Amino acid sequence: MEIIIKQNATEGSHAAARVVARLIREKPDAVLGLATGSTPLILYNELIRMHRKEGLDFSRVTTFNLDEYVGLPADHEQSYHHFMRENLFRHINIRPENVHIPDGMAEDIPACCAKYEQAITGAGGIGLQVLGIGSDGHVGFNEPTSSFASRTRIKTLTRQTVADNARFFDGDESKVPHHCLTMGIGTIMDARINLLLAFGEDKAEAVAATVEGPVASVMPASILQHHPAAKIFLDEAAAAKLKLSDYYRWVYDNKPDWQQDA
Ligand code: F6R
Repeated sequence: MEIIIKQNATEGSHAAARVVARLIREKPDAVLGLATGSTPLILYNELIRMHRKEGLDFSRVTTFNLDEYVGLPADHEQSYHHFMRENLFRHINIRPENVHIPDGMAEDIPACCAKYEQAITGAGGIGLQVLGIGSDGHVGFNEPTSSFASRTRIKTLTRQTVADNARFFDGDESKVPHHCLTMGIGTIMDARINLLLAFGEDKAEAVAATVEGPVASVMPASILQHHPAAKIFLDEAAAAKLKLSDYYRWVYDNKPDWQQDA
């Protein structure tokens, strides 16, 4: 794991955006895994800026989103289809046929999930996956005790996640769907690079447990300790509970030139 601590969410997100942009420039047909929620918003704004001002070209990029709520149609304001269209896709030159998001309205959910996995494999696998983290340590919607071998499937959200996400549903927990379709932890671990972003004090405990705690399914993101190329972008608040933060800063500040990428 590489731990990158920046002063604030903007600096952390811009550093992550540079890694994404570098991949797209090196490999114009890159396959990206994408997240929703508050965390990646600054990253997406920076990618939009790079598209407009620096010609970052998404015309051959393919994307797969991590998850979607069950029961929300694509045009629902809180669906992740809507979120991605509004916050990224409609501002860049990505081809609609290259965009993939699990179908929360699917009639045959197991078949839809199996097809999603096949589509990822068919695209050559995910080159770079963007992740946020839940305050309970979830990645995607792989809640605590999710199997590390899991693939795309239906999951039930924890009460904590329902409460956390109520802010997007007028603060009304009863409006938050209780089920979602999510890539599995096995799916996420197959991505060649994983970028996990976490900002704000609400994430500090989950971040400390993920980076410095035992690898355990009760803290799903901790599996990233076993990923060969996981980069964790933090602001000061999210890094506040790390015991070895001085060491992570030292490592980052002393990276050899050839390793500089963020
Ligand atoms: C969203 C997702 C979730 C979020 C997590 C953090 O696609 O997969 O794991 O990344 O719930 O959400 P925010 O960023 O809203 O704090």
